[in-house]
Amino acid sequence: MKKRSRYIPAFHFRWLTPWYDPMMRRLYPESALKAALIAQAHIQSGQNVLDVGCGTGTLTLLIKQTHPNVAVYGLDVDSEVLDIARRKAEQAGQTIFLQQGTATCLPYPDGHFDRVFASLMLHHLTREDKRHALAETFRVLKPGGELHVADFGEPGDPSMWLISLVVRWVEEVHDNVLGLLPVFMAESGFKPVGETASYRTVSGALALYRACKPAVDRT
Ligand SMILES: C[S@@+](CC[C@H](N)C(=O)[O-])C[C@H]1O[C@@H](n2cnc3c(N)ncnc32)[C@H](O)[C@@H]1O
Repeated sequence: MKKRSRYIPAFHFRWLTPWYDPMMRRLYPESALKAALIAQAHIQSGQNVLDVGCGTGTLTLLIKQTHPNVAVYGLDVDSEVLDIARRKAEQAGQTIFLQQGTATCLPYPDGHFDRVFASLMLHHLTREDKRHALAETFRVLKPGGELHVADFGEPGDPSMWLISLVVRWVEEVHDNVLGLLPVFMAESGFKPVGETASYRTVSGALALYRACKPAVDRT
């Protein structure tokens, strides 16, 4: 898979990175959204879980705190957010495995994870890299494993649609707003793929998705 050295930082501008956590808490229904994403994954004790594009580690830590008996890995391309995530894990007294790397070339063996999360990461990637990242996610999941995504989605009402007219030109949001994330997931081999929830926010509709890697066919 292709490696990328250029990337869009957590809040677009590097200088905003220290403000990422407080802004997320104030501007978005962050706690509700991340709790719902974890709940829909039905994580079991002993599983391996990866948070791709983990940023400052809020979701990564929440997974570990909610499910202490799982091995939780976080990967992000940006060393600055990973430093924040490490500090937060230390303060919380939690062990999570954080690593720098890119979603388009995951540094893990095939079939290593039971669950992969990607929260607000895919809209940072070009269309080509969205596809690479989803293919990589599919590769590192075990058969029967699941991908759980939170990201910009199709607007569900006129006010979300109006906001989307602007937001679709920000970063790499355009494909999300057109409803293409589930299409790309299906193209990567995930089946079934479905939207599980949608949140109205100041920057438009945020959707949750579940995408399953089919279990091995034993017939
Ligand atoms: C909006 S932040 C989301 C952070 C966190 N997942 C959350 O929900 O708060 C997007 C993150 O994706 C990371 N990112 C961007 N491109 C990436 C790539 N190619 N591989 C891995 N992470 C990437 C950024 O560094 C950033 O931390």
